Amino acid sequence: MSMTASKPIDFQITHTSHATAPEKLARILANPGFGVHFTDHMVTIDWTVEKGWYDARVTPYGPLSLDPAASVLHYAQEIFEGLKAYRHADGSVWGFRVESNARRMQRSAHRLALPELPAADFVESIKHFVQADVAWVPSAPETSLYLRPFMISNENFLGVRAAKKAVYFVIGSPAGAYFSQGVAPVAIWVTQDFARAAYGGTGAAKCGGNYAASLLPQQEASAQGCSQVLFLDSQENKYIEELGGMNVFLVTRDHTLITPELTGSILEGITRDSIIALAKERGLKVIERKISIDEWRDGFASGDITEAFACGTAAVVTPIGALKGRDFTAGDINKPAGELTMSLRQALTDIQYGRAPDSHGWLTRLA
Ligand code: PLP
Ligand code: COI
Repeated sequence: MSMTASKPIDFQITHTSHATAPEKLARILANPGFGVHFTDHMVTIDWTVEKGWYDARVTPYGPLSLDPAASVLHYAQEIFEGLKAYRHADGSVWGFRVESNARRMQRSAHRLALPELPAADFVESIKHFVQADVAWVPSAPETSLYLRPFMISNENFLGVRAAKKAVYFVIGSPAGAYFSQGVAPVAIWVTQDFARAAYGGTGAAKCGGNYAASLLPQQEASAQGCSQVLFLDSQENKYIEELGGMNVFLVTRDHTLITPELTGSILEGITRDSIIALAKERGLKVIERKISIDEWRDGFASGDITEAFACGTAAVVTPIGALKGRDFTAGDINKPAGELTMSLRQALTDIQYGRAPDSHGWLTRLA
């Protein structure tokens, strides 16, 4: 039977002979930005219908060669993940909830009719990658190595059906704060002209197409002086879903956390899930439910909503100061970040950076 647990795939390791010079690397790590510098290596694993996963390798980082007929270039059969490697005070390097990313990638693969990489092979790919580029894991506060596993279909065929060939990669990029202003409160633009995801669509999958759909509204947000775009549900244009690349939480006057329920059109954020767990452990009430944009807007004005924040791997926990729509502005970007927001952020990052015990078993040693 082909469904029996497959044996872990072996990785061939080829180190680069042109590693980034230590002085240049030190300059990059001193000011990494987000997603602009890439490490010296990459992981590749090939897949075909006939052979399954094969030829797992770590090689020097370099361009891909794709046939112009490769199906991903035409029908966007692509998925990705985002997770971080954190350096602890003793120099060791750890991943946060790596298996959750592996499982989410499997769910995304299922939705995009791509092959599922076994979770154990995903975890191994992350370990091998980080071990090859361990010098690229920064150690300054709030920095990490952002890891980007992704998968594309690469069968050269223009018929519209699931490809019979795919390839999985891991690349990585040292990361500081996602927003240029650091952890300061951001303003959010509520788009009412565009939806990110439809019911029955791919909203819950982490596929490039969702992000392509978010770019025009994100430009609209930037033109309005806002850092991120907030999407409403596509049926009623009424209930908040998520930002272009982050989930959202609100805090009510009585210290209850509310966040949009998972409807199938929202990405199941691993940070979201972790925040829910950490808040509940503190005895806070967390409610996942529909939240209308009017409730948020009016709550910011009346004080019924005392705090709001965005959360995700890249953004960690970022306070939201103001909400701007076509005909309203609510909140105040100049108000200091909410207390509960910042203390949940601290609790999460304390675990990630090894400053607090990992009582949930969320960390995996990578190097
Ligand atoms: N929502 C979207 C659209 C995202 O791109 C992300 C980032 O990955 C998230 C939510 C948060 O997910 P996670 O916390 O797993 O990074
Ligand atoms: C992440 O947090 O990993 C994301 O995918 C957000 C992003 C679009 C950079």
